[in-house]
Amino acid sequence: MRDAIRNAVVGDDVYGDDPTANELEARAAGIFGREAALFLPSGTMANQIALFVHVGRGEEIICDARADVYLWEMAMPAILAGCIMRPVMPGGDGRLTWQAIAPVINRDPADWKAQTGLIAVENPTNMAGGLVLSPRAMEEICTAAHALAIPVHLDGARIFNASVALGVSVEQLSRPFDSVMFCLSKGLGAPVGSMLVGSHDFIARHRDHAHAQAMAGAFAGVSGVAIDPRRVETNVVHVIVRPPLRASALVGAVAQQGLLVTHVDDQTVRLVTHQDVTRDECLEAVAIIERYVTAHGEAHESAALRAHS
Ligand SMILES: Cc1ncc(COP(=O)(O)O)c(C=O)c1O
Repeated sequence: MRDAIRNAVVGDDVYGDDPTANELEARAAGIFGREAALFLPSGTMANQIALFVHVGRGEEIICDARADVYLWEMAMPAILAGCIMRPVMPGGDGRLTWQAIAPVINRDPADWKAQTGLIAVENPTNMAGGLVLSPRAMEEICTAAHALAIPVHLDGARIFNASVALGVSVEQLSRPFDSVMFCLSKGLGAPVGSMLVGSHDFIARHRDHAHAQAMAGAFAGVSGVAIDPRRVETNVVHVIVRPPLRASALVGAVAQQGLLVTHVDDQTVRLVTHQDVTRDECLEAVAIIERYVTAHGEAHESAALRAHS
């Protein structure tokens, strides 16, 4: 990859004469079966451009309450597109459905409420631990939205991971959407970059998912943490630590040993596998966390118990 970067033939992309950017965009468009693609430095930028293009000022964008476009993109829809977000929390097993979206749609121009201008769907849903929406669920959302003339954007930052998990090509998965963003960074392993496609085959590494499953299995034997391996569908693993353990403290402590993980909230640690991490390193990650949990969880608990006795 570094050689490819060093040896890339470059031009001025402003004039559309950077052959490497053009080749990348043509390739992305081809893989997704779309007419055009645009290379952008980040997923946030690609998402926000899509939102801006789809909606009118003062409209509302419906999304999952845990969506990146809502939680982690610096309130950009308010600044760039001039929109408000309408987050909905899916019921059931935590996957966004049309049933969750339908009640908050507003297309009545005579209403005082904001008009629904766009639905943004995230698949896999990162903050739901990488849960995957089925092609059927996405089709249902898009068909129903389109019947109301509402466009649907796919934040497919990790859509290749969903493709691997479902055994369905990204082209097929993303077909019903009006626009698609995917990251070249994250599961595909590039240092930076995202694509916005306006419309094939698996590119993501299957082993990332197998490693996540291996970690989930190994965590199942660790006392002091809780994990549901059935909800590990892609390369994201959420591990719940029990009080008195705090996920933020754990994250800081294991970083000292070279294990870089994040926390979603104070009880949830988030681990993400990728192509540069081996299976052994994943299992070592579990061992590092187990050592921390054993040392701190029980020690603190017994200290707390002693204090109360
Ligand atoms: C689902 C999702 N969408 C968009 C983004 C934003 O991508 P970037 O970090 O390249 O801006 C992220 C980043 O983690 C993400 O998880």
